[in-house]
Amino acid sequence: MKAIILAGGVGERFWPLSTDSLPKQFLKLFGKKSLIRETFERLAYRLKPKDIYVVTNARYINKTKEELPEIPSGNILGEPEKKNTAPACVLGTLCVEDDNEIIFIVPADHYIPDVETFWEKVDRASVFLEKNEGIVTFGIFPTRPETGYGYIEVESKYVKNEKSNVVPVRKFKEKPDFETAKKYLEKGNYFWNSGMFMWKKKYFIDQMKKHSPEVIEPFEGNKNIEEIYKRVPSISIDYALMEKADRIYTIPSNFVWSDVGNWLSLKELKVKSSDSVVALDCENVFVKSTKPVVVIGMKNIVVVESEHGILVSTDEGVQKIREAVKKMKEI
Ligand code: GDD
Ligand code: MG
Repeated sequence: MKAIILAGGVGERFWPLSTDSLPKQFLKLFGKKSLIRETFERLAYRLKPKDIYVVTNARYINKTKEELPEIPSGNILGEPEKKNTAPACVLGTLCVEDDNEIIFIVPADHYIPDVETFWEKVDRASVFLEKNEGIVTFGIFPTRPETGYGYIEVESKYVKNEKSNVVPVRKFKEKPDFETAKKYLEKGNYFWNSGMFMWKKKYFIDQMKKHSPEVIEPFEGNKNIEEIYKRVPSISIDYALMEKADRIYTIPSNFVWSDVGNWLSLKELKVKSSDSVVALDCENVFVKSTKPVVVIGMKNIVVVESEHGILVSTDEGVQKIREAVKKMKEI
């Protein structure tokens, strides 16, 4: 098996910690290690570093090498432009020589603390793909009608945490609207898509040629990455392939999982505020700061300080950080 880490994120939602030169995957949100380092170690628990690849923007190659010195430098693939995940999946998959190789696509910036359970599911997926054709996804039990995720529809209602194997997928729907997501949750036969995928090289290439030829065609017979990326459309793998693929399966995955979307995700995961914080008459306040901070009489807020600035926001306001960062750049 070869693993491909997708590390193209910008992570504006983690301002003032994340910036253009330090996107989300490089942040140390859960302790001493960056998210990409934690992702690498989760994979290296069972894989050799030479079997782990990273697809990232060309400008982050050096930083990625610093974070992951064990990986051969030829395995760190640079993209000249940000074209979303479909081209990144193609670039990574084409680097693997053997048509029958199993490829495991993994986002660089997710939180999955339980390595054992994670690998139990990953092993199950790869054993399945040795004998069957298709794409395997990892289904997370949904807890709210989140519109930022893909949904995986299976044949019948399931019982949460029941011991189950690989399940055929009826339909994959990327980022439905709120009303649709609510219906999915009521129906009870939908999982969240975790954003990790497994396929054999040949099946993936064939499916891309069939369902999204415009994404794979620029790569054919051309080794000039600048030219390829000029021509290739910007599209995620979820729209380019997952909504159209012939055979999809899912493994209900009961490990703790978060895609760490914004500062509120840290609250949800019960990450503690920094040490030097005094909160008096406060409720549900999260503070991340290198300096001492005093908060008095506040409720449901987030305070983050870094060398790049200070964020003070209500929980709801956190959704607007992108907008605020854009305005900040105009000042
Ligand atoms: N190399 C590279 N190039 N990586 C990229 C690019 C790119 O242009 N764009 C995004 N990525 C990386 C991100 O860094 C992240 O690790 C991963 O690919 C997923 O991209 P996101 O942009 O975060 O996707 P999303 O969160 O909107 O949606 C995906 O993930 C959800 C779960 O977190 C989808 O797969 C959803 O269906 C899924 O539910
Ligand atoms: Mg994401």
